[in-house]
Parts: sequence; structure tokens; C-alpha cells
Amino acid sequence: MTISTVDFDFVAREVKERSGLVLTPDKGYLLDTRLGPLARKDGFASVEEMLRTARVRRDERVLAAIVDALSTNETFFFRDKIPFESVREHIVPKLFAAKGKGARIRAWCAACSTGQEPYSLAMTFEEMRAAGQPIEAEIIATDLSDRVLEKCRAGLYSQFEVQRGLPITHLMKYFSKQGESWRVNDRLRAQIEFRRVNLLEQFNTLGMFDIVFCRNVLIYFDADAKKRTLERIAAQSHPHGFLLMGGAESTLGVTDAFQPTPDRRGLYARNAAWRKAA
Ligand SMILES: C[S@@+](CC[C@H](N)C(=O)[O-])C[C@H]1O[C@@H](n2cnc3c(N)ncnc32)[C@H](O)[C@@H]1O
Repeated sequence: MTISTVDFDFVAREVKERSGLVLTPDKGYLLDTRLGPLARKDGFASVEEMLRTARVRRDERVLAAIVDALSTNETFFFRDKIPFESVREHIVPKLFAAKGKGARIRAWCAACSTGQEPYSLAMTFEEMRAAGQPIEAEIIATDLSDRVLEKCRAGLYSQFEVQRGLPITHLMKYFSKQGESWRVNDRLRAQIEFRRVNLLEQFNTLGMFDIVFCRNVLIYFDADAKKRTLERIAAQSHPHGFLLMGGAESTLGVTDAFQPTPDRRGLYARNAAWRKAA
């Protein structure tokens, strides 16, 4: 199947406006591989027919499903390990030094996908508590996609998913078997509030944070959207706050609202001197 230029341009424009994802022509194959199953599931005779319906009728449900199908949800427990080590060894000690030992920590996982990242953070805090640290934390996890948020709230993972990055000791401690799957225990689930937030839209109602995970989402944005999003995250970060980004991402050359932390890959400290432009 070959998607017409009109259809490609329509999808690329809608996806960029709605999610920030930049779809370049070399990614045209994604339209074939990801929209085909969606069209079949929704009872359309072809991808072209689904796109025509979306374009002509401006069908919001179909448009949202197209954006969702073209987003990458790849994630796994304790992804890259280093961010969680940084929380334990660097961020929490620095926050306690700035706010007082045992002070309440507010953390935000922006673009949390299917939940492995916020649950890994919650387990990190639990392990720190078990080691005697006075951790009082609030975790807010958000994503654009209602589909992934449903999975986050259910906290139900397949055997394959729990085998990716999750230590067996944590599986035994924080999950229970449910049929063929594993469910996160109630205590851990109760520690995270899941909400739908589009990073392109206002999110100041979430309040101020000490820690923000914004990992592996801005790589899909163009330079302008990346800068605007990072600076709006900075505006919601306390002056002593921290940002964690993916291994292939950086704030360098994008904004000076955050500064890299030497020897800590992916960790950025809020630049306390930075002010949001009026
Ligand atoms: C590759 S996953 C990253 C998951 C996790 N942060 C990690 O690093 O493992 C990217 C997520 O970003 C979400 N996303 C894409 N555009 C978004 C937007 N404009 N606002 C909020 N979330 C968005 C997608 O739905 C997807 O779940």
C-alpha cells in the first residue's frame, strides 16, 4: 500500500499539532505498519478510507486513535538504571540538604507510557524507606494516551514485561500473580496518581515539582516544541529541582533553564538563575 502525499501531509500535520511528534517522509512506512491494524480493528475497508473519514468528518475519536497508533510507547522497568541510581544517590540527598531531611518530595513522570517508569520510581522510594530513609513522596504520572493510562492504573503486566529490567526480588515483593500476568500491589499503586496531560498544552495546574522525569518523548519533537516544553517544565520545577532525560537527549543547545550534572548521564539541575521569558 502506498499512502498518497495528501494523506501523508494530513497525518503529519495532525500528529504534530496534537502530540508534537514530527513525522518525516522517511517514516512513511509507519503509516502502513501502524495504521493498517487500526483501520481493520475499527472496521474500515482500508487505511485510505479511515484517513478520509478523519479528514472529511474531523472525527475526533479516529484522529486521537491515529495519533496514539503513531506514538512510540517503548518503555521498561528501571530503564537505563542510572536515573534511579541518581534519585537514590544524588537527588534525594541534595533535596534533603535544600529542604530539610524527610521533607516531602513531589515527583512527576511526564510521558509515563504504560507505567513502568513511575512504578520503578515508587519501588526506588520504597527500597529507600526499607533502608531507613524518611521518604515522603508524591508521584504524578501523566501521558497523552488514554490507552496507556488505563494500563498504568490497572498495573497489570505480562511475563515478558516483568522480565524486562525488573529484579526478581522486586517482582516477588511488589507484584502478585494474576492468571498469566502480574499485578502491582495496592500499596505501590496507591502511591501514584495517573492523569492525562498533553505536554504541548498547559500543565501548570499540576503544581511545582522537585523531580521531573521527561524521558524519551522530546526526541520526537522539533527544536521549538522541545525548547518550549523544557522551559514550561522549568517553570514548574523548584529552584533546587532536577530533570531526568533519556540517554539520547540533552538540554544543551536547547535551553539554559537546566544544567547538566557532571558525571551523571541524563541528569539536569534546574538553573536557579533562569527566569521564564514573559
Ligand atoms: C517512548 S515513551 C517513553 C516512556 C518513558 N518515559 C520511558 O522513557 O521509558 C513516549 C511516550 O510519550 C507519550 N507522548 C507523546 N507525545 C506526547 C505529548 N505531547 N504529551 C504527553 N505525552 C506524549 C506517548 O504516548 C508515549 O507513551
